[in-house]
Amino acid sequence: MKEFGELHDADPEIFALIGDELDRKRTGLELIPSENFTSLAVMEAMGSVLTDKYSEGYAGRRYYGGNQVIDKVEETAIERAKQLFGVPYVNVQPYSGSPANLEVYLALMRTGETVMGLNLVDGGHLTHGSAGSVTGRLFNSVPYHTKADGYIDFEELERNVAEQAPKLIWVGYTAYPRAFPFKEMAKIADSCGAYLAADISHIAGLVVGGVHESPVPYAHIITTTTHKTLRGPRGALIMVTDKGLSKDPDLAKNIERTVFPGMQGGPHNHTTAAIAVALREASRPEFRTYAAQVVANARALGDALMENGLRLVTGGTDTHLLLVDLTPFSAGGGLFAQEALDAAGITVNKNTIPHEPFSAFYPSGIRLGTPAVTTRGMREPEMAATGHLIAEVLGEVRRYVMPSERLERAEYIKSFRADLSSNARVDELRKQVAQLCEPFPLYPELSFEDRRKHS
Ligand SMILES: Cc1ncc(COP(=O)(O)O)c(C=O)c1O
Repeated sequence: MKEFGELHDADPEIFALIGDELDRKRTGLELIPSENFTSLAVMEAMGSVLTDKYSEGYAGRRYYGGNQVIDKVEETAIERAKQLFGVPYVNVQPYSGSPANLEVYLALMRTGETVMGLNLVDGGHLTHGSAGSVTGRLFNSVPYHTKADGYIDFEELERNVAEQAPKLIWVGYTAYPRAFPFKEMAKIADSCGAYLAADISHIAGLVVGGVHESPVPYAHIITTTTHKTLRGPRGALIMVTDKGLSKDPDLAKNIERTVFPGMQGGPHNHTTAAIAVALREASRPEFRTYAAQVVANARALGDALMENGLRLVTGGTDTHLLLVDLTPFSAGGGLFAQEALDAAGITVNKNTIPHEPFSAFYPSGIRLGTPAVTTRGMREPEMAATGHLIAEVLGEVRRYVMPSERLERAEYIKSFRADLSSNARVDELRKQVAQLCEPFPLYPELSFEDRRKHS
């Protein structure tokens, strides 16, 4: 498997593209906070014979024969998740985070009932009731917001909860750099009898690694993707807590029915196995060290960015994630920043900031995180160097100001891209990024060396 020999012969084109992606990762700084580098053990489970099996249903209750082994795989994943998170019920079948969240709604609510989640632009997730997602169309979404300082506006939330009596409240975010306020949100949800669902997709690895508070005592339901800080394959879990079961003894059963047959067909058994592997890895003492380093690295990166003159939303981070506010030099400049950093081998994503002054598509911030670079072995000194490199690249694009006129914008972006492609300083910084990465080899076991002659 390690040499991808079969793929090399059967499909040189895809073989070469995988090699190119590995090169991109090896020579660049991967700072997207929702990404990580899975172990080869996780990848081997993903690339196994388990991908072929149909197993609609649950262990001991399948609609297909031949599931003796698959039952054991699924039960192993469930048991490990229960142990690791400390919950009485786990469903490991959701295909990914978005379906998992939709399954929560469909298990709890009728269409038109009220949901509250953090506004998308303020750092919430699409599936928490945003207008662009079916969750915002099927349900009555009354979003809560962050204040100008970037922290959650509890006063507004409490007022709206008292008026609207929501059925479901989400706590858990996609671009919020501070600790998730499980306790405060539980108090608010309990005040109106709402279900509290904690979406810990971003911070699951920090929770099991002991560096972020667990939602288990506070939430009724917990969802998480398995592929971010948890460092597993792309997939998701839905968990029910003891608090959830005492509010509604049928909660686990309803979730189960909603996942299958309600929304999904056959589970992705190769993913379930890889989730089990990742959960085992996350239960080891080394993972606690990893999680602590992720947060230490995020703090170090934040300090370096601020020392180099950049502004961070909330002035720092409690987690793995940082949000840079570009408005001091460029409202709407997230695109320039993302593309220039990309050209320098630093991968981030443009993101809105609280009270976004420009637009959701041309936002005024960039979102960064440390899970992947920490997996790679980087520590505070490399984060200091990274912060400096980012500030240097951003210095190259400070002069670009996003036009507010649509027609003017297309031309302006085109000429920005032309300038960027001939920016010698950015090329020089690209080399420095590659040098910073060199002492931290990524997947040294994998070789794609002879792919060029095939492509
Ligand atoms: C908080 C949160 N929930 C859910 C999701 C959705 O996960 P997926 O992309 O696997 O559907 C994400 C992914 O970005 C997320 O950040």
